[in-house]
Formats: sequence, structure tokens, C-alpha cells
Amino acid sequence: MKKAILSSILLLSASSIFADTTMCFKENHQSMSTIENTPLDGGLCMGKNTISDMKAKGWNVDDIKISQSANGMNFIYVLKTPVTQAVSSSNFSGNQADMEARILEKLEKKKEAEKKEKEIIVKKNLAEEGKDNYIRKCQSCHGEKGESTVGGYSRPLNTLTSEDMRHSINGYTNGTYDRGRAATMQPITSTLTYVTLEKISAYLDSIK
Ligand code: HEC
Repeated sequence: MKKAILSSILLLSASSIFADTTMCFKENHQSMSTIENTPLDGGLCMGKNTISDMKAKGWNVDDIKISQSANGMNFIYVLKTPVTQAVSSSNFSGNQADMEARILEKLEKKKEAEKKEKEIIVKKNLAEEGKDNYIRKCQSCHGEKGESTVGGYSRPLNTLTSEDMRHSINGYTNGTYDRGRAATMQPITSTLTYVTLEKISAYLDSIK
């Protein structure tokens, strides 16, 4: 019988997550007339509070389930409070405001995780597209992992952000940047788009 009561408690509380609800029960009770003044087990009754006590604290009986047991009757009470009362009843832990805050926090975390996951996928796709470009057009001078200084003229590309690179490439294109061998980069940058550069940067990041 204990198991049956427990599973119906779980079921009921799961279906009413947003309501401020508690469940109390009494097993094997003899009389309908004395149940109101008998301390109930479970939930916020905790073996101390009778249904009258709970009503005095602002709880309303939402549902009662009564079933016959071998030694009497089993009573299950579903108790609810109006939302405004739930928020102010600070002596009860797990009130509706707390529960909603926890649920919102969980949803927020889930959203954050999904966003991060998407960013990782986007970066991974960029990196895959940049790989071929880098190997064919840049690796011979800048090294397998972008670690080369190309004879001391370039900073290692794997230490630069995509903005750093964009800035340098811009400079080669309009003739305002030269570390001593700008002439080598100028024909390369003339066909290099920002999108390709972004992909190359993502690739270098991915093999760090
Ligand atoms: C033929 C060799 C060569 C190739 C190929 C080459 N680079 Fe360079 N790169 C250089 C040299 C030399 C420099 C230094 C130029 C200077 O003196 O300013 C340089 C500089 C750079 C810089 C500036 C670094 C800094 O410190 O500001 C970037 C960014 C860069 N290259 C990106 C690329 C990319 C991306 C590719 C492939 C699309 C590429 N390079 C292909 C030789 C090369």
C-alpha cells in the first residue's frame, strides 16, 4: 500500500509543477469523523499538522482520495494555496516563487548551453572550410600550424586574432602596412576575401 500511495503522490505532484501544492496522507485510519484532527504524514504536514492546522495556515483542500485498506482507510489530501499567500508564507520551504525561479534558471541554463553548442558547430564548419584554403594558399610560408615568422617578417598567424589579421591584410591591400616584405603578401591579399580570412582564422584556432 505504501508504494501505491507514494506513486500516486509522485504522479500528482509531477502534473502540478506550477501550482503551490503539497500532499499529505494517513494510512489505515479508522474513522472519517476523526481524520480532520489527526496529524497527517508526508508533504508539509510532516506527521505534525492536521488538516485543520493546514487550513489555518492558508491551505485549501483541492482533492481528497479515500481508499479502503486492510485495517481501515487510506486518506490522501491534495492541498493548495493561492499564489499570493504562497509567496508570503516564508515558513514553508519550496513555495511557488522559489520553484518558478528554479525552473526559469534551468531553462536559462539550457538556452545558454544550446547557444554555445551552436557557436561551436558554426566554428567547426568554418574551420573545415578554412583548412583547404590555408593548406593550399598559406601553409608553405606560414607553417603547418601558422607558427612560422616567415624569416622574421610576420608574426606567427596562430598568435593573431581574426581582427589582427584583417587589419594587416587591409594594410597590404591599400599599401599602409609593411613589416619589410609586404610585396610578398600584396598579390595574395588582392584575392583574399574577409570570409576566407575568417575561415582560415577558425582553422588555425581549431588546431592550436
Ligand atoms: C609566399 C609566402 C607567403 C604566402 C603564400 C602567404 N604569406 Fe602571409 N606573409 C608572408 C610574409 C613574408 C609576410 C610578412 C609581410 C610583411 O613584411 O609585412 C606575411 C604576412 C602575413 C600577415 C600579417 C602578419 C602580421 O604580423 O601582421 C598575415 C595576416 C598573413 N600574412 C596572412 C596570410 C594568409 C591568410 C595567407 C594565405 C591566404 C598567406 N599569408 C600566404 C608570406 C606569405
